[in-house]
Amino acid sequence: MLDAATPNRPNLPAEIARRRTFAIISHPDAGKTTLTEKFLLYGGAIQMAGQVRAKGEARRTRSDFMQMEKDRGISVSASAMSFDFGKFRFNLVDTPGHSDFSEDTYRTLTAVDAAVMVIDGAKGVESQTQKLFEVCRMRDLPILTFCNKMDRESRDTFEIIDEIQEMLAIHVTPASWPIGVGRDFLGCYDMLHNRLELMDRADRNKVAESIKIDGLDDPKLAELVPAHLLEKLREEVEMARELLPAMDPAEVMAGQMTPIWFGSAINSFGVKELMDGIAEYGPEPQPQSAEPRQIAPEEDKVAGFVFKVQANMDAKHRDRVAFVRMASGHFKRGMKLMHVRSKKPMAISNPVMFLASDRELAEEAWAGDIIGIPNHGQLRIGDTLTEGEALRVTGIPSFAPELLQGVRATDPMKAKHLEKALMQFAEEGAAKVFKPMIGSGFIVGVVGQLQFEVLASRIELEYGIPVRFEATQFKSARWFSGPKAAQDKLVEANKQHIGYDNDGDPVFLTRLQWDIDRVERDYPELTLTATKELHGE
Ligand code: G4P
Repeated sequence: MLDAATPNRPNLPAEIARRRTFAIISHPDAGKTTLTEKFLLYGGAIQMAGQVRAKGEARRTRSDFMQMEKDRGISVSASAMSFDFGKFRFNLVDTPGHSDFSEDTYRTLTAVDAAVMVIDGAKGVESQTQKLFEVCRMRDLPILTFCNKMDRESRDTFEIIDEIQEMLAIHVTPASWPIGVGRDFLGCYDMLHNRLELMDRADRNKVAESIKIDGLDDPKLAELVPAHLLEKLREEVEMARELLPAMDPAEVMAGQMTPIWFGSAINSFGVKELMDGIAEYGPEPQPQSAEPRQIAPEEDKVAGFVFKVQANMDAKHRDRVAFVRMASGHFKRGMKLMHVRSKKPMAISNPVMFLASDRELAEEAWAGDIIGIPNHGQLRIGDTLTEGEALRVTGIPSFAPELLQGVRATDPMKAKHLEKALMQFAEEGAAKVFKPMIGSGFIVGVVGQLQFEVLASRIELEYGIPVRFEATQFKSARWFSGPKAAQDKLVEANKQHIGYDNDGDPVFLTRLQWDIDRVERDYPELTLTATKELHGE
């Protein structure tokens, strides 16, 4: 087992140095859920594999809305789970699984230091893998790859590696090399530690002991691997060492190289080696960009930021949980932190941590950890909490929606209630809500069509307001910044194009690209943006 000390960050407290905060990205069906179960199994967080799924199902059957998620194979309720692996504390942040929720996914990825990319050995890089990978790349996140389902007929190993290199433009270094495929899949040769890992087909939850060998000419190999597979292994490993780049931790750290492990999550094979990889190349909690200065995890003072807000997690309580990534220090339950946006102190008396999907009170948390803070709406995405310093975490954007629709309550008496419901979803980050300057009703913006349906069922289910979405002439929205006089002039001359977001900031609602070109031409001193930094003023 590796030592958690980090020689390049000598001031990092051991408790922080041992933390690894990461997310799993994959195309649906590649094996993310199965891999998560096995992680938790190794982490001792659950006794038996299958519980994540079983609990997930129980949770999902709770309401029609949840049923809809299930039918469509999407998971909207993301959470974070913590578990120990040897000397390490792993924090696994769940990414929403559907491409319609890319904005949510982006924000989730602002809370992690690395990502594990799971691909199906028969399918290679799929559309969703590629999209999520691009999001990771925007943040230069280190990415570790797990090529799953090697117990099934899979593609040629070199072909898989080439595809990743070409489609994702990243160097790939084999951390392990598969021996046989499909029914012949025996296990892997560990390229980093010169070990043989053989799969135990008899017991899916058992991890076979690794076998130390002395290079590929070790006579022991012939006793363990049939001659034809051994010959192929020797040839391939020799070729791989010649043609593929060798492991370079600095390149992995910079997001320019991904090590790949081959395995079979369902057979618990290759998972431990991947976890060792996360421990070794993870990396430890990284500094967080903020204004007016960056926040280093090793600072004594506590700081953290909200990257996700989830409402109505418990149908019985109208509470919301703000998910906070701790950026620095050692947090203890009951601490008073300053909510920088409102400049008000907040006593954090009942924070929760999510241990294998069960909520527990978090007595303490270190930089790198994710805690959930129940609140009544004070905490919004992008908010920073500190021990008093006016720091604002940066880099958590709000994207311009790609699809806009008008929304009305079918019962006009409920218009006021609808406004409240919409504002809540806007704060949660589930949609953009604009109140047009002229006319009644609201305009709701999302990044994927499916979100309208999800919203309609949530508004009806959680607030008892039946609603109707209807077409609008607007196609997108732009925030604008620049001299106040020019902003006022733009608003005054284009009232029918102006709306206000849930923070009260004006946006320019556009029908065509031509609208944007026109404003840029007529108001050269203003800057139009498709994103808005969420750190609230
Ligand atoms: P996801 O969360 O990425 O969508 O994938 P999930 O883990 O649910 O896995 C998708 C399917 O692939 C599941 O089968 C799962 O059992 C299977 N699977 C996962 N890992 C492996 C593996 O290493 N080898 C093989 N052969 N299959 C694997 P399913 O039939 O959809 O569900 P279930 O009935 O098995 O639960």
